[in-house]
Amino acid sequence: MKFKEVNIGIAGLGQIGGRLYKEILSKKNNIKIKTGVKINIIGISAKNINKKRNFNFNKKIFFKNALDIAKNPKIDIVFELMGFSDGISKKVVETSLKNKKHVITANKALIAKNGESLSLLAEKNKVNLEFEASVGGGIPVLRSIKDGLSTNKINKVVGILNGTCNYILSKMETSKDTFSNVLKKAQLLGYAEPRNPKFDLNGSDTLSKVRILSSLAFNTKISKNKCLLNGIENIEAEDIEMADSLDYKIKLLGITEIIDNKLFERVHPCLVKKNAYIANVNGVMNAIIIEGSPVGQSILQGEGAGPGPTSSALVSDLLSILRGNIKYPFALPHNKRKSVSPYDKNKYLNSFYLRFLVKDKPGVLSSITKVFTKYKISIKTLVQKPDKKNNKASIIIITHKNSEKNYINLLNNLSKNKFFLKKPTFIRIQKV
Ligand SMILES: NC(=O)c1ccc[n+]([C@@H]2O[C@H](COP(=O)([O-])OP(=O)(O)OC[C@H]3O[C@@H](n4cnc5c(N)ncnc54)[C@H](OP(=O)(O)O)[C@@H]3O)[C@@H](O)[C@H]2O)c1
Repeated sequence: MKFKEVNIGIAGLGQIGGRLYKEILSKKNNIKIKTGVKINIIGISAKNINKKRNFNFNKKIFFKNALDIAKNPKIDIVFELMGFSDGISKKVVETSLKNKKHVITANKALIAKNGESLSLLAEKNKVNLEFEASVGGGIPVLRSIKDGLSTNKINKVVGILNGTCNYILSKMETSKDTFSNVLKKAQLLGYAEPRNPKFDLNGSDTLSKVRILSSLAFNTKISKNKCLLNGIENIEAEDIEMADSLDYKIKLLGITEIIDNKLFERVHPCLVKKNAYIANVNGVMNAIIIEGSPVGQSILQGEGAGPGPTSSALVSDLLSILRGNIKYPFALPHNKRKSVSPYDKNKYLNSFYLRFLVKDKPGVLSSITKVFTKYKISIKTLVQKPDKKNNKASIIIITHKNSEKNYINLLNNLSKNKFFLKKPTFIRIQKV
């Protein structure tokens, strides 16, 4: 259906919704030129009407209950920008779709959790559910997979998908500062959430994005598999320094691939060679590497978060709808997307970086190496850094490839070692 005039509702006026509101108003004429459609914002909603915002709005278009935007028969397109994985966000999207309104959201938590039922609802009601802004901020990665690479067989997607973590790791490297100091800096600069940055730091935010990428790349249902998930909270300045001296950098990567017809999704910090492309993507930047056939390797890089890039993706979704580009949310009809069973992560072969903080006593090293022998994990590099003054030492080991299962057994066994002063740090080594 081609529109002449469209009425828009925006639920959520925070960092993203507020910027989008201003962006749409300032781009109204430009959008008309590009699509031939006149747009009007006739409904906005937030939790608190009286909150101080950095833009003015007509209180007559403010809806106290966001759900009324979804029910309003005059509204054609709804932006959901409140950010909950369920609750009011889900209700607004569901109600809008049932009422045959197109929906655009930046909410990865909602799509990763409820994307299946919501996309089915969009399909049944022949409306769009667009979520380009949910992955990679301003990078048009979902559209690239859906359109530009649509006939490719994609087998792997790897990316730096969280700007907060990438900023922290990059800054720890350049400033040699501690994790907690750099986190504070990131919060002051608005790169990390001031109250609860947990979902960025523990990898959950990246995992939601990985689940969305998998389903688009492999035409599969959004997985609910229990994935390999480690965040960056335990990375210390010493790890960054050691990685540097061993010719590596540390990056939090989201990885999804098909191995033996099974889906393997994972998020964890990785040691990547300094000369790898992804090792040189720093600060709040995101980068995504897509491997497909016949295209080969494609790399997309850009600002992965923040009001500017995110609203760029939201407006591009709007233009796509205004141009009459009505599509299945996950590119294929629901019944054509298959469920894939998870790859057994225990079988996954990897090299590891391990750092042990131990008491500096005779017998420590042999107590460690004999456990490596027990699990047949061979050591490639071993570095000892004694701290004689404090009677302790760091032992850093790089291993040859072995199975995830053997590493888990190794770490469980070593957790009983009486010489250890704290839990070992382990980081998987990834070739990208
Ligand atoms: N920030 C980023 O860089 C970024 C990047 C990509 C995607 N996203 C996604 O964009 C979405 C919005 O993020 P944000 O950073 O803009 O969040 P935010 O600043 O916390 O804004 C949330 C907005 O939702 C409103 N809200 C909360 N509960 C509500 C309710 N019950 N009814 C109506 N409105 C309600 C809040 O109202 P008040 O203003 O009155 O408190 C606020 O305006 C999230 O899904 C996020 O994951 C964000």
